[in-house]
Amino acid sequence: MRLFIVSVVAVLLALSCRFGMSEVVSKFDTCRKFFFEGQPPVIPDILNPNSEHVRYKKICQTYSSQKNDKIYTFATLYDTESRIPVFSAYKYTGKGNFTRPEIPWMIEPQLDPPDGNMIVPYRNQAIDEDYFKNNYQVNRGHLFPSGHAADEFTAESTFTLTNIVPQNISFNAGSWNRIENKTRDSMNTDCSDDNGNISAFVLTGAIPGKNRLNNRVNIPSYMWTTFCCRYNSRKITWVSQAYWGINKEENEDEPIRQKSLQELQKFLSEKYKYNVQLFKNNCKKQK
Ligand SMILES: *[C@@H]1O[C@H](CO)[C@@H](O)[C@H](O)[C@H]1NC(C)=O
Ligand SMILES: *[C@@H]1O[C@H](CO)[C@@H](O)[C@H](O)[C@H]1NC(C)=O
Ligand SMILES: *[C@@H]1O[C@H](CO)[C@@H](O)[C@H](O)[C@H]1NC(C)=O
Ligand SMILES: *[C@@H]1O[C@H](CO)[C@@H](O)[C@H](O)[C@H]1NC(C)=O
Repeated sequence: MRLFIVSVVAVLLALSCRFGMSEVVSKFDTCRKFFFEGQPPVIPDILNPNSEHVRYKKICQTYSSQKNDKIYTFATLYDTESRIPVFSAYKYTGKGNFTRPEIPWMIEPQLDPPDGNMIVPYRNQAIDEDYFKNNYQVNRGHLFPSGHAADEFTAESTFTLTNIVPQNISFNAGSWNRIENKTRDSMNTDCSDDNGNISAFVLTGAIPGKNRLNNRVNIPSYMWTTFCCRYNSRKITWVSQAYWGINKEENEDEPIRQKSLQELQKFLSEKYKYNVQLFKNNCKKQK
């Protein structure tokens, strides 16, 4: 028995070293700073703010080689059945001066704890190999894109498969990349905090579709994104933008149009069959 325990601990240690140090949590408490007013979205049946869900797991994301300096970089709600995230939430503060990191993809060991076997089957998440079996013309699409990160450390932390969905290759490089650029430009010019620093709360998510990559990883039908921020120098005006697009072959004749937060919430509420609220008070704040 003792040997058994020792070996499990050894496996856990090995995994935590190789795969980063993110945390699967029962509440988003330790990473609530990535949500507007500290409040995660309301998605009944999928996101229960105060308790654990068997299928949907909350992850406070970080990336560190050193154990004792845990710096959280964003938050993810992960669907262990579809093996893709529901959304990632982050604070945009301007893109840092770095080039796209070239690092191996990470997984989240806590989603698949070893059950006494030395070989972990990874039932609850996508792994690198799933993306090699590519009969659907998809590649890895970030929800929190590394090009929205404030520094290289944060950019590297986005290279976890828990922040990734299978995205049509031409859509990933085309319209969706244009939306990432467009929201980045808007946030750079429109969004600032009391000190005049760029600051915006972003939520980006995916809606599960009908096909599965490698018979495991759901290929989402839609991707969506929205941000909420204080409009430059106007202390009481909060603004938001929202977008969604179909995860299919690029069609430049049908560009993704800007929508309101309310329209996105209506769209998501129809998909999820419950009333979805993405930002507290619909991105309104006093003072
Ligand atoms: C960005 O980083 C590069 C390489 O370190 C440096 O040469 C360049 O001056 C930096 N640019 C800015 C705007 O800081
Ligand atoms: C988005 O911006 C990046 C960096 O500014 C640029 O390299 C890329 O071509 C842009 N993407 C599109 C689709 O315009
Ligand atoms: C925000 O602005 C203040 C005052 O100008 C500055 O001291 C601080 O370093 C800035 N914070 C960030 C994260 O850039
Ligand atoms: C995805 O894009 C590729 C081209 O990049 C296209 O050939 C393929 O049919 C697309 N798949 C879907 C499901 O739209």
